[in-house]
Amino acid sequence: MEINYIFMLQLLLGRFFLLGYVRSDPEPLNDYCVADTKNPHNFFLNGVPCINPDHTLASHFATSALSKPGDLNQFRFNVTLTNTNNLPGLNTLGLVMARIDIAVDGLVPPHSHPRASEVTILLKGSLLVGFVDTSNRLYTQRLRPGDCFVFPKGLIHFLYNTDMVNPALAVSGLSSQNPGTQVSSLATFATRPPIPDEVLKKGFKVNGQDVIKIRKNLGG
Ligand SMILES: *[C@@H]1O[C@H](CO)[C@@H](O)[C@H](O)[C@H]1NC(C)=O
Repeated sequence: MEINYIFMLQLLLGRFFLLGYVRSDPEPLNDYCVADTKNPHNFFLNGVPCINPDHTLASHFATSALSKPGDLNQFRFNVTLTNTNNLPGLNTLGLVMARIDIAVDGLVPPHSHPRASEVTILLKGSLLVGFVDTSNRLYTQRLRPGDCFVFPKGLIHFLYNTDMVNPALAVSGLSSQNPGTQVSSLATFATRPPIPDEVLKKGFKVNGQDVIKIRKNLGG
């Protein structure tokens, strides 16, 4: 009897943790919580404070932030995200949308989003996409316009525009209002302050000259 009771408790707790683990951001307690972007807050909480619901406007739930491409970076891509500033109505809803522009031969290099899964639809161009699971197995796929691909939460992934003529345009939904991004190369060779050379030499099995060269190439 005693043993059964403990077993049941473990089963229940197991379920509880499992459910907690697969959930994205916390569930909203109200219909919405339009982010208060005007009043700077001097306290910290998990999210952004809401405005008085009486002052809510339809425009809080709309944005043109993704209507134009942003400036290309050193890898020749740009990602523009909705967030609680340009789309205050998404606060607490556990999602954002991203516009991804990738130039000819451009690459969104291997990176991860610690707080979100991502589902991408390719609108224009042609992409080679892929992610690596925690056993270092690689999953890749070639996308044509209209094709979707999903990147599981926290796993390292990339998007490469294999088209040598046309830029690629894709749109992603991410399952957090603050997905976070860590680009693998920058998070190792372009940190402030730098990761000690010894660590990078040993970690990547390269010499000091290689470390200097990679740092310089990445603008670190
Ligand atoms: C995208 O472009 C905007 C401005 O055009 C810039 O502020 C932002 O840093 C760029 N993002 C990336 C990931 O290149």
